[in-house]
Amino acid sequence: MSSSRKNPESLRSQRWYGSDDLRSFGHRSRTKQMGLHSDEFVGKPVIGIINTWNEMNTCHTHFPQRVQDVKRGVLSAGGFPVELPAMSLGEQLMKPTAMMYRNFLAMEVEELLRSYPIDGAVLMGGCDKTTPGVLLGAISMNLPCIYVPGGAMLRGHWRGETLGSGTDVWKYWDERRSGKIDDKSWFEIEDGIARSAGTCMTMGTAATMMSMADSLGMSLPGASSIPAVDSNHNRMASLSGRRAVDLVWEDIKPTDILTEDAFENAIIVQMAIGGSTNGIIHLTALARRAGIPMDLEIFDKVSQSIPLLANIKPSGKYVMEDFYYAGGLRALMKMLEFRLHLGTQTINGKTVQDNLEGAEVYNKDVIRSIKNPVSPAGGTAILRGSLAPNGAVIKPTAAEKRLWKHKGLAVVFKDIRDLKARVDSKDLEVTPDSILVLQNAGPVGGPGMPEWGQLPVPKKLLDQGVRDIVRISDARMSGTSYGACVLHVSPEAALGGPLALVQDGDLIELDVESRRLDLLVPESELDVRRKKWEPPEAKARRGYAKLFTQHVTQAHEGCDFDFLQGTPGETPEPDIF
Ligand code: FES
Repeated sequence: MSSSRKNPESLRSQRWYGSDDLRSFGHRSRTKQMGLHSDEFVGKPVIGIINTWNEMNTCHTHFPQRVQDVKRGVLSAGGFPVELPAMSLGEQLMKPTAMMYRNFLAMEVEELLRSYPIDGAVLMGGCDKTTPGVLLGAISMNLPCIYVPGGAMLRGHWRGETLGSGTDVWKYWDERRSGKIDDKSWFEIEDGIARSAGTCMTMGTAATMMSMADSLGMSLPGASSIPAVDSNHNRMASLSGRRAVDLVWEDIKPTDILTEDAFENAIIVQMAIGGSTNGIIHLTALARRAGIPMDLEIFDKVSQSIPLLANIKPSGKYVMEDFYYAGGLRALMKMLEFRLHLGTQTINGKTVQDNLEGAEVYNKDVIRSIKNPVSPAGGTAILRGSLAPNGAVIKPTAAEKRLWKHKGLAVVFKDIRDLKARVDSKDLEVTPDSILVLQNAGPVGGPGMPEWGQLPVPKKLLDQGVRDIVRISDARMSGTSYGACVLHVSPEAALGGPLALVQDGDLIELDVESRRLDLLVPESELDVRRKKWEPPEAKARRGYAKLFTQHVTQAHEGCDFDFLQGTPGETPEPDIF
């Protein structure tokens, strides 16, 4: 933690505004062009409000109002707030996947903060990739900043039943495919499942990543649990604006907060909330940006000692609104006090222990105790073996237990189009014991590693009453999904990883307990196939997609760009002439 306090003369923005020269005259006069007096911005912390809003990101529709709340907070603490719109990554409507643009947002945030006279920042994110996107950029720029989580939407409703984003879509879609849901019911579900502004209200990637930012210490404590449309959310946004100003004077930077212990705290919380598997990729990328080497094994290790405490869909039965009323993240972390690094500093200037003082669980069914968990430890397993030499991920708690140890014959789809074309065909040779394999859906192959990893159960099997089957891919899966899905297989098929060599009828063995995923084909045969293998035709020939496929790292490395990794604050400040 920095010991030196800033004063008005030592503010970064003074390099633009503070001198008696031609350039500074230009900077001051053009800022005054907005109708401001010098004393409103010269010598005051300039707080950039990174706003990931647009009208295609349906989860962030409340952000324009929240920007006003943040500004109110910044002004009341004596700062100068400026809104900096950044690319919004709307998980639902952005194709092929918002994941392809996470690094784009990260670059944009870093360069916005670097190129303008900004002293500190408020980072507004929520919908899945926006949270890691804004944090990645902010870490690399390493200016004082605070994260404002967008908050989850209200619970969904249908005929007296609670509907959970994503989770209940998959459930009822399978029922619809098997002819059990008529048009009227289906459209009623469509009307009732997303009732307000805010992110998915199950423990999907959005709620996971907001909770991760909170447990890393980058937001006000407990901020991630407040529903988007609750007036406490407005107050949290305004308080975060105030805090951003103090952070600048105190010169507290992301690297002061994001220590190895902070990351371990976040992983502990991730396991206890039944967090999305996407969290593994994003936390890995964040840690590496902060200069902390992180590999997959720590997720497996922590998972073995932390049971699932949050009874939230898809692993449990409630939604995020219930979690907030039950005490929220602070109450859950209180249950984990025995295991957390309590002395870790957080963005409000206090330790984790200080922040947990007085936290209480108000509903013991929603937030369980260690003695009465939703399910025992081991919610996430990292697999290795001949099919995934650099690792793969499975969430056993989201899969039918009979499939945890399973041997079956591969039914291979060479890409997503092949899958779409054949998965529901009557001629597909598939049995409940088969293992579905999807190739070329990884970081390069997708491109962007889309959430195609929850391959649909073939209609032929659905009609037989089968609802789960082992599925393997180099893709990701939505955090709201479930099923025996082995994800993030690394190296991916498009780079010639062993996944690319699998053929129909090959025997594959999954053994969650021993953490193995093996392709039971003789090495001599694999050698023959390897020699014949040709990479799939590149989908990206120019532009950002080409840059992405040339520089994205593999899933076990966090899917960051190779050229963005490095010491925070390493890129020099711009020359101002
Ligand atoms: Fe935005 Fe799920 S679609 S959080």
